[in-house]
Amino acid sequence: MKLCMIGTGYVGLVSGVCFSDLGNQVICVDKDLAKINKLKNGIIPIYEPGLEELVKKNIKNKRLNFSNNLKESIKKSDIIFICVGTPTKRNSSNADLKQIYNVAKELSKSINKFKIIITKSTVPVTTGDTIENIISKKNSKKKFSVLSNPEFLREGEAIRDFIYPDRIVVGSNDTKSNKILKNLYSPLIAKGANYLNTSRRAAELIKYASNAFLATKITFINEIANLCEKTNINIDDISIGMGLDQRIGGRFLRAGPAYGGSCFPKDTKAITSTGDNFKTNLTVIKSVIKSNEDRSKLLLKRVYEILNNKIKNKKISFLGVTFKANTDDMRDSSSLKMIPALSKKGALIRYYDPTGFKKEFKKHKNVNYSDTIIKCLYKADLIIIHTEWNDFKSLDFKKLVKNKKIMIFDMRNLYSPKKMIKKNLKYFSVGRGL
Ligand code: UGA
Repeated sequence: MKLCMIGTGYVGLVSGVCFSDLGNQVICVDKDLAKINKLKNGIIPIYEPGLEELVKKNIKNKRLNFSNNLKESIKKSDIIFICVGTPTKRNSSNADLKQIYNVAKELSKSINKFKIIITKSTVPVTTGDTIENIISKKNSKKKFSVLSNPEFLREGEAIRDFIYPDRIVVGSNDTKSNKILKNLYSPLIAKGANYLNTSRRAAELIKYASNAFLATKITFINEIANLCEKTNINIDDISIGMGLDQRIGGRFLRAGPAYGGSCFPKDTKAITSTGDNFKTNLTVIKSVIKSNEDRSKLLLKRVYEILNNKIKNKKISFLGVTFKANTDDMRDSSSLKMIPALSKKGALIRYYDPTGFKKEFKKHKNVNYSDTIIKCLYKADLIIIHTEWNDFKSLDFKKLVKNKKIMIFDMRNLYSPKKMIKKNLKYFSVGRGL
């Protein structure tokens, strides 16, 4: 099939590349010409394990193309996926749909034969209706069909998540388009993926409700971790004990820093806005947002306690600053709150991240990037394990730090408290007693 992906961010690029790998002819379009030129040469703008190899392979076999000519790309394709960003609007919780509607206007001018138009971007309920209205101003409704097919992939696991999805959701009442979409996804369905056909609005809401529910699970376990700290219980036991109940499930019950990334913070806000717009108060999700915002303050307070409130000139080393492992994404990472707050109090901060230097900390005083773990940890007073990269899971701190009074605050519970105590290390973690 001939596909066009509009927008080469995470969703557009990963799904475009994977669709081409499944044998389709794909054009990935972006208005950023520099990015398109890089992609044509196999240079990937994001860090995503396995993506570069797949891009190069499918450029070589001529199934994957990149272009900044939107009109031409639309004309050449049968199925068009809208994959542009839907960030949070300034000073509001609403999703900013400017890019989506600009694409819809462009689409309305370029329909030369029947087109299936699909939103893969996360869009609020009724966005599909508006896209349809915009396009139908210039085209007969017989010439196009608007569907919703949300993407559920995680950064860092994106290719695996695309190939082995738990479910594929397609929202549309148009039988002809549904058949085509089912056929497009047939290689994944054959491998066991569930295929769910719903109304367009339901598909739009499934995406938001799923992200909001996962965010709720994380926030819930983080609050239980707070209670575990006061009652000397190990949160890992609670996560396992709860997760064994099949109605609950063990995934997304890892306590840690505030959740971050480009999706959960934005999507939880957007769904509460949708609720407000339709006069439905989504109180659970609103308190999840509040609890997550408080989480970084709470963990900072713990850092101050660990250091006896003497922060000035303390050498604090951060291991990992991205919002999670296997990504270079800094969006809404809790380190963006913690590091500036500690620098303001006079701490001397070094950080190491496998994905390198971060421009976000450039303007902060005494915040420096180390290009190796050894340099980052040398003579540190306090080590903060912020991100769960494999590189940090079996470090010999005594050997690396060269400071007899090492303190470690493991925000991802990567180490066993018992083993750390045995090694005479002052070790603190999350939800495992003080
Ligand atoms: C999330 C969803 O998991 C995807 O299904 C969805 O497609 C994507 O958003 C999106 O809407 O595009 P992602 O943001 O890549 O994916 O990252 P997650 O792996 O879900 O992690 C989000 C945050 O939750 C991270 O800060 C992570 O550290 C935190 N988390 C996750 C925990 O604190 N504990 C857990 O047990 C799991």
